[in-house]
Amino acid sequence: NEIYFNGLRGVVPTLPMKFEELRDRAQAAMPPSIWSYVAGGAGDERTQNANVTAFDRWGLVPRMFVGAKERDLSVDLFGMTLPAPVFMAPIGVIGLCAQDGHGDLATARAAARTGIPMVASTLMVDPLDQVAAEFGDTPGFFQLYTPTDRDLAASLVQRAEAAGYQGIVVTLDTWVTGWRPRDLSTGNFPQLRGHCLANYFTDPVFRAALSKTPEEDPQSAILRWIQVFGNPLTWDDLPWLRSLTDLPLIVKGICHPDDARRAIDGGVDGIYCSNHGGRQANGGLPAIDVLPEVVAAANGVPVLFDSGVRSGADIIKALALGATAVGIGRPYAYGLALGGVDGIVHVVRSMLAEADLIMAVDGYPARKDLTPEALRRVPR
Ligand code: FNR
Repeated sequence: NEIYFNGLRGVVPTLPMKFEELRDRAQAAMPPSIWSYVAGGAGDERTQNANVTAFDRWGLVPRMFVGAKERDLSVDLFGMTLPAPVFMAPIGVIGLCAQDGHGDLATARAAARTGIPMVASTLMVDPLDQVAAEFGDTPGFFQLYTPTDRDLAASLVQRAEAAGYQGIVVTLDTWVTGWRPRDLSTGNFPQLRGHCLANYFTDPVFRAALSKTPEEDPQSAILRWIQVFGNPLTWDDLPWLRSLTDLPLIVKGICHPDDARRAIDGGVDGIYCSNHGGRQANGGLPAIDVLPEVVAAANGVPVLFDSGVRSGADIIKALALGATAVGIGRPYAYGLALGGVDGIVHVVRSMLAEADLIMAVDGYPARKDLTPEALRRVPR
């Protein structure tokens, strides 16, 4: 309504309403090296692209005479009530997408303004406590890349708890970086230049292992980070991970039903179905196509989902396939690059408005109405 009423007064939105325009204008606004890092993926990016196009193979069936005048997208998640089943997925390099380099703070401010939680990456440009201080009344989650140094892992989690994060998301698919030709050809990994390592450089356990501080000798600190960054966890490590926190523990990167079952047996509170937006491994199934099996295996335990969500329609489809909450990835990074906090708010609100209108027009007024029954497979 806001946009229609503004239109009556001759005011048109300055930020793009179409994803393709958002993406193209973000590319023009971002330094080429950061753009290729954010937009790129693994291999020839077929999985990344398939994540997006796979949504076209599901279609929502409209229902009439429903009178869906009021819609309710709110959801209870780990004891918290969110205004909509949507969150901002962790994007390590998000800080660098902002004109001022402080995109983590901007994302946290957008979370405060929209009520849509941010999952803040371990690889933030701004330290985790400063980011959490911007959340306002919106809950935030901390995403952990588990280092090989267990004391360092525990320290990161304790700091996140102390800063007020409401859940810990452990990402399992990125203990080693995938084969990313765009970055390999430019030698461009922002982490390797010390960006996005503030959480390590400010950590007492990390600092204690260095002979000189990161401020005195950044190169040695980066080398130490490379040594400890990736931990190829096994099921034997799950009890230890669980013991790190009493906060809700969510494991990210789960795409197989057996993995979902076993993680739940091991005490996790939530499953996060994602293939990292196709950034980690090419040749995989689109994430939305593995979601139904993962949801079935989770047997009522919350399932977060991301990878390929580009519109409100995609959010609705993922919810109908059983996601408890849906993560927005690259689109909000593009919004940030174009318009800072306002740009993220614009992207999030536009996607939510579209989702809400689909529920209205198609006659599915509540979350509980969005079930697989609402969808049909589109013939190839
Ligand atoms: C990511 N993603 C990610 N995930 C994570 O757990 N920790 C991280 O630090 C990052 N960093 C990161 C950087 C960039 C530039 C991107 C684009 C993505 C993955 C992210 O959380 C999410 O899974 C994907 O972005 C979803 O795919 P789409 O929707 O962006 O295609």
